[in-house]
Amino acid sequence: MTRNKTKIAGTGSYLPERVMTNDDWAKLVDTSDEWITTRTGIKERHFAAEGEATSDMVTEAAKRAIEDANIKRDDIDLIIVATVSPDTAYPSAGNWTQKKLGLGPIPSFDLGAACSGFLYGVIIADSLIRTGMAKNVLVAGAEIMSRVINWEDRATCVLFGDGAGAAVLNAANEDGQGILSTYWGADGNLGDLLIQPAGGSAIPASRESVEKKLHTVHMKGNEVFKNAVLRMQEAAIKAIELANLTSNDIDLYIPHQANIRIIEATIKRAGIPREKTLINIDKIANISAATIPIGLDQARKQGRLKKGDTLLMSSFGAGFTWGGIVVKM
Ligand code: ACO
Repeated sequence: MTRNKTKIAGTGSYLPERVMTNDDWAKLVDTSDEWITTRTGIKERHFAAEGEATSDMVTEAAKRAIEDANIKRDDIDLIIVATVSPDTAYPSAGNWTQKKLGLGPIPSFDLGAACSGFLYGVIIADSLIRTGMAKNVLVAGAEIMSRVINWEDRATCVLFGDGAGAAVLNAANEDGQGILSTYWGADGNLGDLLIQPAGGSAIPASRESVEKKLHTVHMKGNEVFKNAVLRMQEAAIKAIELANLTSNDIDLYIPHQANIRIIEATIKRAGIPREKTLINIDKIANISAATIPIGLDQARKQGRLKKGDTLLMSSFGAGFTWGGIVVKM
C-alpha cells in the first residue's frame, strides 16, 4: 500500500522584540560592525526579554502555525521541539509547550541535533505520519542562544540570536505534493569542535565550571567552517539527487544561516542562483535549530514560496549533524 506523502500544512515564527546590533556588541567586546559584516554577513539579531523562556517563544510560533494550517489546536497529536537551549534540562521544552498550548496528554519531546534539529524533526514527523502513528505533528525549532553564549568571547558571541519557528505537518492529499526526499547524517568524532561542555553528566555544574564559562558555546571556528561548507553542500546536493531532480528544479533554497560565506560556497557548488536562496542572516544571525523554520515562515509570508513550488532546505550544526530535505509545497 502506498501511503500519502507528508506536507507542510502551516508555518509560524516568533522573534523577540529586542534587537541587538553589531554596534551594540562593539560597545561590549573588541569588535566592529565592519568585521562582523564582512566575516559573517550578520548585521543584527534578536534577543529574548528577561523572563522569556524557550517554550514561550515556541508557543507563539506554534499558535501561528496551527492557525495557518487551518486546524484546531486539539488536532495536534505530537510535539517535537528541536533545541539546544530548553527552559529546563527536564521537563522538555516540548512538555512546557504542551502545557502552555493547553493540549491533552499527547506525546511531546525535545530533539538535540543543534542547527540541524528542525530538519531532523521533520524527517521523524514524516515517517510517523506516513506509517499512521501520527496525524498532525507540530515540529518547532527554538533557541535562546543569548543565554548560552560567552558574552566576553568576541569570536562566538556576535554570531548568534534568539527566536522560534514552527511547522504543522500532516498527510498530503494532492498528487505530487509533500516531502520528496530526506537526507541526514552525523559525525560524533568531531563533537569537540563545537560544544557546550558543562551542565551534563560529563561536567556537572560546579563553581569551577561556571568560572571557566564551560556552560557556554565553545567553537573552533575555522575547523567548523570547513566542515560546514562540505556538509551543507553534500546535504543540498544529495537531497536534490534523491528527489530525482536537478538544481534547476529548485524554486527556493533555505539554507541554515551560520555564515554568509558558507551559504555562498554552498550555492555555488550546488548550482543554485542567489536570487533563489533565502538569506536573512543579516537580520537574525544564527538561531541554531530555529533558523530554518523562521526562514520557511518568512518565505511563505513574503510570497517567495507558493503552493506547487519546490523547496530545498539544508543545515549543518554541532555534533556534527547535517540534513537536507526537498518538499513540493
Ligand atoms: N571581531 C573582531 N575580530 C575578531 C572577532 C570579532 N567578533 N572574532 C574573531 N576575531 C579575530 C580573531 O581573533 C582573529 O584575530 P588574529 O588573526 O589576530 O588571531 C581574526 O579575527 C580571524 O579569526 P578567525 O577565527 O580565523 O576568523 P574567521 O574568518 O574564521 O571567522 C567565524 C570566524 C565567523 C566564526 C567563522 O570561522 C565561522 O563562521 N565558522 C563557522 C560557524 C558555523 O558554521 N557554526 C555552525 C553552526 S552553529 C551551531 O551548530 C550551534
